[in-house]
Amino acid sequence: MLPYATLIPLDRQLSTPLSTQIANALIRHIRQGVMSTNTKLPGSRVMAALLGVHRKTVLTAFDELTAQGWLMQVPAKGTFVSSRLPDVVPSPLTELAATSMAQQTGFTINKKPFLEIPVLKTSTILSFDDGLPDLRLAPVEQLGRNYRNILNRGFQQHLMGYADTNGTPFFRQQLASYLRDSRGIPATPDHIFTTRGSIMAIYLLSKLLLEPGDVVLVGDLSYQSANLVFDECGANRMCIPVDGQGLVVDAIEAICQQQPVRLVYVTPHHHYPTTITLSAERRIRLLQLAEQYGFVVLEDDYDYDFHYVGSPILPLASADAAGMVVYVGSFTKSIAPAFRVGYVVCPPNLVAALGYRRRIIDRQGDTILEQAIAEMLAEGDVQKHLKKAQKTYHARRDHFCELLKTTLGNSVAFTIPDGGMAVWTEFDKAIDLPQLAARCRNRGLLFNNGRFYQPDAPIVHHTRLGFASKTVDEMEQGMEILREIIGL
Ligand SMILES: Cc1ncc(COP(=O)(O)O)c(C=O)c1O
Repeated sequence: MLPYATLIPLDRQLSTPLSTQIANALIRHIRQGVMSTNTKLPGSRVMAALLGVHRKTVLTAFDELTAQGWLMQVPAKGTFVSSRLPDVVPSPLTELAATSMAQQTGFTINKKPFLEIPVLKTSTILSFDDGLPDLRLAPVEQLGRNYRNILNRGFQQHLMGYADTNGTPFFRQQLASYLRDSRGIPATPDHIFTTRGSIMAIYLLSKLLLEPGDVVLVGDLSYQSANLVFDECGANRMCIPVDGQGLVVDAIEAICQQQPVRLVYVTPHHHYPTTITLSAERRIRLLQLAEQYGFVVLEDDYDYDFHYVGSPILPLASADAAGMVVYVGSFTKSIAPAFRVGYVVCPPNLVAALGYRRRIIDRQGDTILEQAIAEMLAEGDVQKHLKKAQKTYHARRDHFCELLKTTLGNSVAFTIPDGGMAVWTEFDKAIDLPQLAARCRNRGLLFNNGRFYQPDAPIVHHTRLGFASKTVDEMEQGMEILREIIGL
């Protein structure tokens, strides 16, 4: 008889029932050939005594394995490993003792090296990040209260089930009126499609609208994650220069005169990564060109809420009566990145098409979170939070730019951004930026080494230094590390 007490180790601390542990162990030994087909198992009483469990536990395990086809019960003879399983050559017992998961797949994965760009993560270490909100200011109390209330209220059942793929109706309604009030987009709930953040919106739209070879125009530079999506879709991505007024729209026209353009990706409010605002004149021209040449304007308004000079310029979508602009936004910057609620604003026929596309990978969004945010919008909590955050970030921008100037002097050059949460900073050519970033990291200050923004450039001198998430003390601490390492 096999040493069942050793082969079937049971751990009573685990939440896995003992019968399941027995069944799993037996499956493993059958798979690995320790127990070959037609092996007779001890009777349930004997097995129970060997394993120190109740007989019913063994019977439950045997019944389950019989139902799954691993074992067969032969009347008046006993329980056997099923004769219909293929024979497996046994491995040495020492090998069988390994219970950890494999570190590598046993099959190949088609590699796409262009996708393998590291993601930026929020860190608990001091950092001048890519331009992230201060999570300490996030209105989590109101959000948590709303979330809990929704679950307690008793009408949660319809929210906890399968729901509308396009988004929670109350959220779409509240968002439409918020977008009308805050940025002049005359949307109705039928123009809103919810997603789990902007990047998902960009992905779904690209999958829906792009065919391999389609020309997609982006700024030089642009948002790498969007570039990856366009490349993944097989688009023919072409770069347009960006100057002091944003995307050079004349260059877009020049390309349109040569060949069909399917989509232009823009971050007009604060161009990513350089933070430049697209001038009013170029906005109008871009809309005219979109109508004339029939291309989609994909407007990624990732940080609309934070603008410090005059009133924010209204989005392109607010002036688009022809249905050429698809507007993407999210609450990941205005509340916090962990709360994955974003949206697309577009004509209803595109909302419907997005819904069909989304269903393939994600049946619906986070309905309860959408409802909780909708209630915050209805109660004015989001608006109040943004007003406060905007004031704080404005002061932080001023302080940060002043510090950059006074602490780092001629080692850096930058334009004070009109809005957003980061400063596009150029380091002196004599400074090796990736090396500086690595040395600062060793001293406890993280910032992007610039390669994220220009993965193909042989040398990089620019990076984004985020100020919004840092208090004055933290900024000063970080700046001091930079100053020391640069050697000023
Ligand atoms: C330009 C731009 N678009 C979109 C996003 C992604 O936002 P989300 O977290 O909503 O997917 C970011 C994130 O930093 C961004 O910088």
